[in-house]
Amino acid sequence: MKNSPQVLSQLILNKRPDFKPKIAIILGSGSANLADKLQDVISIPYHSLPNFPISRVEGHPGQLLLGYLNKVPVICCQGRVHAYEGMQEKDFQLFIRILKCLGCETVLMTNATGSLRKDFQPGQLVLIADHINFHPMNPLVGINDDEFGPRFFPMDDAYDKKLRHSLQQTAEQLNISLPEGVYFSVLGPSFETPAEIRAFRILGADVVGMSTVPEVIVARHCGLKVAVISVVTNLASGLSEESITHEGTLHFAEKASHDLGRLLESAIEQLTN
Ligand code: HPA
Repeated sequence: MKNSPQVLSQLILNKRPDFKPKIAIILGSGSANLADKLQDVISIPYHSLPNFPISRVEGHPGQLLLGYLNKVPVICCQGRVHAYEGMQEKDFQLFIRILKCLGCETVLMTNATGSLRKDFQPGQLVLIADHINFHPMNPLVGINDDEFGPRFFPMDDAYDKKLRHSLQQTAEQLNISLPEGVYFSVLGPSFETPAEIRAFRILGADVVGMSTVPEVIVARHCGLKVAVISVVTNLASGLSEESITHEGTLHFAEKASHDLGRLLESAIEQLTN
């Protein structure tokens, strides 16, 4: 049990015993400044938690923030790990199950994506309605921990309909465009070739990225409700004359994080009802 999700969540709660978050937010590349909207914040660096998986990717500060967004207690994970960093199944399990053990019922995630559609330009927010998992691993391979969920479970409702509806309503009120799309997950870290992107498009994808899907799978296994908002940071390989760079993706993620912040801040109250 040493360094289990149960033990680590207790360590976290010891720092703020009266804190009872129902919502966790996992912030992807470049959208870290969304965290500025939190009030009355306690921050816990990932490295202070034994065995907590830590990202080395630029744009990910690596800390948990326990604070209030519009008076709603939320736990904000500033930074996430990626399979391309060599993270293993157990790392994704620990990351998400800590949130479950903290009492969260809903996880909102953001990420950076490449767009496979010319009508989804850089800066556009996309509400993920489904995914195609092209990662070579599934984070639940290995012995099943029945305490968290069953061996086999459905994924037809992975992206919660009610949450999506609520986020779209809020976006409409705020005049933020939020079309739905299908997320195609790749391992990375290389960006795709133009031929790969053409193939993914034929398979039904709208955006492509290197994160999120392992967390979604672990979250659904333990019954957490999930919503994901992607920020289009670039047109995918072959759709524009320019080569894709990590710096470019950070630039557009930061630009869009203003809208993302407004959207999540306004949506949060409704999501807890
Ligand atoms: N491909 C994969 N992952 C990404 C991209 C991309 O074009 N942009 C941001 N993350």
